[in-house]
Formats: sequence, structure tokens, C-alpha cells
Amino acid sequence: MVDHVFADLSLAALYDSLNPWRPGDDFYLGLLREAGAVLDIGCGTGQLLRRARAEGHRGRLTGLDPAAAMLVQARRARPDVEWVLGDVRVRRWRAEFDLVVMTGHAFQELVADEEIRVCLRAARAALKDGGRFVFETRNPEARAWERWTPDRVLRATAADGTPVRVWHEVQGGGPRGDRVHFTETYAGPGWPGPRVNHGVLRFLDAGRLEGFLAEAGLAVADQYGDWDLSALTPGSPEIITVARKA
Ligand SMILES: C[S@@+](CC[C@H](N)C(=O)[O-])C[C@H]1O[C@@H](n2cnc3c(N)ncnc32)[C@H](O)[C@@H]1O
Repeated sequence: MVDHVFADLSLAALYDSLNPWRPGDDFYLGLLREAGAVLDIGCGTGQLLRRARAEGHRGRLTGLDPAAAMLVQARRARPDVEWVLGDVRVRRWRAEFDLVVMTGHAFQELVADEEIRVCLRAARAALKDGGRFVFETRNPEARAWERWTPDRVLRATAADGTPVRVWHEVQGGGPRGDRVHFTETYAGPGWPGPRVNHGVLRFLDAGRLEGFLAEAGLAVADQYGDWDLSALTPGSPEIITVARKA
């Protein structure tokens, strides 16, 4: 689900400072270095592709995102990457990419079963033979949403130099099935009042995930529980999946 934050230019401009480079980005950047053509689904502000280009990647780099405000940030920073507005239905990529990625838990934005199916089918179709689809989703058993509480405030600086505080709050006291509804509140002296965005994220367990992948003609080649590439265990924070065409 496209959160409203990603549709708002002033909030999208804060995204990179609120979401700085993470260990997961190092993992993906390593994969990009070995891949000639890369598709990043839900690329957001394009931090990963921008970094790859900046450090000399000469191949095809394509970022896809339905949030125009996020792509404005991406395009401004790096016009020499192909930025495509929309979701996977806007293009019919066929066996063109060595690597397809979904990073920063973008996969969890796919809330309805049909959204997941459409995205996975498109990712598979976009892969060359031997290519890899790599993405992560938070392991529901680690219950990350329990730490999304208003006392954990993130801080950033807006373009006009004023401070911004951001916090999250889960709605309804916890997940509804495998979905977590939450608010993200932005507040600071630059705005007349707090701005509240509503989001929903889906938390699939490894079994359900494998079922969706198999249905789309994808097979799990490797799976890790964290960015140190440790094995997936019940307490692992992440389910990091490397999939290939089945
Ligand atoms: C948390 S951000 C992650 C952005 C980026 N991958 C990163 O790691 O910084 C999730 C992104 O997924 C995008 N998104 C939401 N629904 C989507 C969909 N159906 N298809 C592709 N991207 C989607 C949002 O617009 C947003 O930019």
C-alpha cells in the first residue's frame, strides 16, 4: 500500500535523513556490483541505485516506484538512472534483468494477495534465465511492531532548517491477522500542526512467503535471518530471500 508520506514532496524530502544507509543496503549493493542489469521495485528515493551509479556501475539501472514525490528526489540526485513511475503493471519487462530487488521492506507494502501475486509474476518475468529476485520482509515472529511506539522519536532537519520529529504508533493494539495498521506522525515548528499518515504493512511468515513464490514460478535459493547472512531462525528479525526461476 502506498503510504501518503510518499506522495508528499516535503515529507519525501526527509526520507533519506530518516532512513540512512543500512547494513541491508550494503548487502544489496554487493549484489548490484555483480549484476549487469538491475530492476529495483519500490525504489523510493533510489538510494541504492544512486549509490551503485555513483561508484561506477555502468549497466542498466531501473528504479520503479508508484510515489511521484519519492521519484522526484531520485531524479534530482541522479538523472542517469532510469526512474519509472508506477507499479509493476506499467511496463512488461521480459527476461531483461540479471537482478530484481525489493529493499527497505518495500515488499511489505503489498498488502492484498493479488498485489503480491502480480508483483511476483512481474519480477519473475523480468528476470533473465539464471537471474535472481532478492528481497526482505520482517519476520512476524520478531514482532517489530511492538517497538513502534511514540516514545521512540526520530529526528531530522527539514529543507528550511527547522527540526522535525517523527514517531510511529500501531493502531488497534497489534496486528489484525498478518497486517499491521499504524500511523506515522511528523511534527515541527515549520508546520502549523502535526501531520499524520496512515500505513498498513503485511507480515508474511516464511511458509506463506514460499507458497506465494512457488505460485509465481519462483523457488527459494537462499534464505537468511539477518544482514550478517545468519540462518533464518524463529527469532530472526528478517526473512531475506534469494529466489530464482523455478
Ligand atoms: C519503505 S519504502 C522503501 C524504499 C527503498 N526501497 C528504500 O529501501 O529506501 C517503500 C516503497 O515502496 C513503494 N511502494 C508501495 N507500494 C508499491 C507497489 N505496489 N509497487 C512498488 N512499490 C511500491 C512506496 O512508494 C515506497 O517508496
